[in-house]
Amino acid sequence: MEQAEGKKVIYSAIQPSGNLTIGNYVGAVRNWLTLQREYECYFAIADMHAITVKLVPAELRRHTLELAALYLACGIDPAQCALYVQSHVPAHAELCWVLNTVTYVGEASRMTQFKDKSRRHSDNVNMGLMDYPVLMAADILLYGANYVPVGADQKQHVELARDLAERFNSRYGETFTVPEPLIPKGGARIASLQDPERKMSKSDTNPGASVFLSDDRDTILRKFRRAVTDSDNRIVFSEDKPGISNLLSIYCAFKGCTMSEAEASFAGMGYGEFKLAVGETVADVLAPVQARQRELLAEKKELAALLEAGRERAFYTSRKTLSKVYRKVGFYQG
Ligand code: AMP
Ligand code: TRP
Repeated sequence: MEQAEGKKVIYSAIQPSGNLTIGNYVGAVRNWLTLQREYECYFAIADMHAITVKLVPAELRRHTLELAALYLACGIDPAQCALYVQSHVPAHAELCWVLNTVTYVGEASRMTQFKDKSRRHSDNVNMGLMDYPVLMAADILLYGANYVPVGADQKQHVELARDLAERFNSRYGETFTVPEPLIPKGGARIASLQDPERKMSKSDTNPGASVFLSDDRDTILRKFRRAVTDSDNRIVFSEDKPGISNLLSIYCAFKGCTMSEAEASFAGMGYGEFKLAVGETVADVLAPVQARQRELLAEKKELAALLEAGRERAFYTSRKTLSKVYRKVGFYQG
């Protein structure tokens, strides 16, 4: 870990609740690569958040290691940031408890994701689901994060973390840094290949809708070949052509080119050939990431050692914050 004196702090996490999509790659992990050079970064695998919905335990374990390997394969550098598993650092659950006492039931029950998940998992509306954003606030506040890079759907949760930080500070005295969300601007939202009006998601039940980082080349090409388009055969970015526009955005994100460059290179081409070109571009970018992820997963001991180094670093910072909090609320500490 580099000396991080004076650097601003970034915190983010992803739940190991399934395979990541190219949306997660373009909208989250890839952006973190540029941040890690400038900021003191903490990137976690949010396994405690993941169990708020029913998961198969063996799969959670597998997905946790796969996500760690993927972070690294994408270029997250453990020498520059703390990469760790949330449940390895007990201060998250401990601070969550204290923050629960400054969170109103009303505000927690008004969170959009809580309402949404309660509908989707109506047989399992557990306390953890309601407490989810409070645990997320604990994650963020433990490390004094200034910025929290997340997708637009998580903005409300970061705003709750701000409210809780301010409320705690005004009740007990200055303790927490008030964090700000960092939402990627434009183009960062990749849509489903089957329904371009919807976000591409890890949990889409339509098998052709999402391209996963774990998909092999043939699967990627097949999904792009079957992607929904339209019937007018012009390859241009336009609001009334959501399918083609989404494919063009994916192409730009993976090729690293501008929209007008992409449009120019596909001018006059048929949809079949265009979809093949987009698929090949994505497959070419993912191939080395996948190969690296496989190598890392084959070296379980090294992977465990990296996560242990991340845990130690996170443990140290989080303990410092937690002792301060315990002192402020009046816990006798000897
Ligand atoms: P989730 O898959 O909802 O757990 O999201 C993890 C992170 O990936 C969030 O910070 C989102 O910004 C990002 N993300 C998820 N899906 C997409 C998408 N379709 N396009 C762009 N970014 C996404
Ligand atoms: N809830 C976030 C998501 O689903 C993941 C997460 C957990 C997180 N703790 C966090 C993101 C802290 C940012 C900061 O995307």
